[in-house]
Amino acid sequence: MTDDMREDRQVAILFLCLGNICRSPLAEGAARAAFAEAGIAAHLDSAGTGDWHVGHPPDLRAQAEARRRGADISDLRARQLRRRDFFDFDLILAADETNLADALAIRPADATAELKLMLDLVPGREGESVTDPYYGTDDGFGATWDDVAAVAASLVARSRG
Ligand code: 4NP
Repeated sequence: MTDDMREDRQVAILFLCLGNICRSPLAEGAARAAFAEAGIAAHLDSAGTGDWHVGHPPDLRAQAEARRRGADISDLRARQLRRRDFFDFDLILAADETNLADALAIRPADATAELKLMLDLVPGREGESVTDPYYGTDDGFGATWDDVAAVAASLVARSRG
């Protein structure tokens, strides 16, 4: 993202997980839907701490769950977290403690982005992790969507002020 893109002062939020093919694309999809529904413009993106899936679309089970909930995430492509993200985004939201620790380990000393867990934004769920559905059954993706939809609703509420 260039400085030009930030001149509009829209809030910029990056969702972070390990592979960027399950939890963070679902979070991006839920947030895109929630912000669109609220009529609020925002810069939304997602990334992974790992590079195994770079360039890949979201896991087919994640795509299917998103579709069931009315969101199309099929055009998203995985990318890895990069240094610039700590300056381009206002808020980086990690799915779990490992993602958070891995991001902290590479965070530049002069980073401007706030870094926290996704569920820190949901009252009563602070400190909790979004369950990683990758190695589980298909219904795990439903639980993941429920989690990230709660995060998206909190983000919209914060943006409304
Ligand atoms: P994600 O899920 O971090 O939610 O995208 C995973 C995706 C891939 C792997 C692990 C978790 N993996 O080991 O390849």
